[in-house]
Amino acid sequence: MERLLTHPAIVAGLSKVESRIERLSGSSTLPGINAGAERIIQAGGKRLRPALTLGTVLAFGKAADRRAVTAAACIELIHAASLIHDDLMDGASQRRGTPTLNATLGQGKALVIGDFILARAGLAAITAVSKPVAEVLAATTVELAEGQYLEAVDQFNRDRTEESALRSITGKTAALFRASCLVGALCAKASPEERAKMAVYGEKFGLVFQILDDLLDLTLSSETLGKPAGNDVRQSVYTLPLLRARGADPHLLDGDAETILARVRDSGIVDDTLAYCRDLAAQAVDALPAAKDVGLLADLPGSYIAKAADMISTRARAA
Ligand code: IPE
Ligand code: IPE
Ligand code: MG
Ligand code: MG
Repeated sequence: MERLLTHPAIVAGLSKVESRIERLSGSSTLPGINAGAERIIQAGGKRLRPALTLGTVLAFGKAADRRAVTAAACIELIHAASLIHDDLMDGASQRRGTPTLNATLGQGKALVIGDFILARAGLAAITAVSKPVAEVLAATTVELAEGQYLEAVDQFNRDRTEESALRSITGKTAALFRASCLVGALCAKASPEERAKMAVYGEKFGLVFQILDDLLDLTLSSETLGKPAGNDVRQSVYTLPLLRARGADPHLLDGDAETILARVRDSGIVDDTLAYCRDLAAQAVDALPAAKDVGLLADLPGSYIAKAADMISTRARAA
């Protein structure tokens, strides 16, 4: 388990963040919206992004005040909304081990509940945090939409380039990790140079996180994932690990989803992807401002890589 998520100050901060999330996501005048929002929030999730915000505040020697807690809650709300919209786009039936909103309420309601949560986060950021933080969150939401759009554009495209996949995941995932750290640095009144360093750390770690998620989608079971395994290939979303493996086998993506998944498991995709992630993780850690108390953050990318490697080898041994 990563030290960040179990650190007492982070655990205490996250409990305040949780109350803020519940209050904001349950603030509609329409009980149906509140109930839908509550479902995705209560289903769990690691709360990694708000932990990054609080971890950054802590690294800069500050305590998480009311503004920082609200900012962290807004980050998690944007994440939750992006998952609702992502499941709608992917046609996914399960999220966080429970049925998705699109599966239970239908696409239209899932769409607008996602919209509600996104807008509510924006409103809270501008009224209860600060204009610079609200600006970062709004710009991040723009990037998130662009990243998801690019993925949709390349769906079914077996000639998708690695550059295109990288651009998409930078927008859909790494931008929110970057924002999580940048917002923490803003709340801690870090200097512009320190803010820029934290942003690089967040973005590189975000890329690692998404690429590991893509790899796990190809190698683990739905049970372990709490969401449908192999869904990317079944939806004809060709992710970075696959595209890199295609370099060694030009016919990797030929045939139906099951054929591709079986072929992938016999390829060198695991070692290649883990090495690629280790390189990005080193870049993330190098960016951390050395003079600050960044130990908890420095551990994170490597611990996620080790955890993913472990989950994959456990599955391989069981097979
Ligand atoms: C899922 O994010 C979406 C990706 C960017 C891969 P998480 O794995 O952080 O999801 P939760 O919040 O823990 O459910
Ligand atoms: C992450 O992409 C979704 C967002 C960042 C919005 P994925 O499609 O890989 O996420 P999962 O696998 O469904 O959690
Ligand atoms: Mg998805
Ligand atoms: Mg995925």
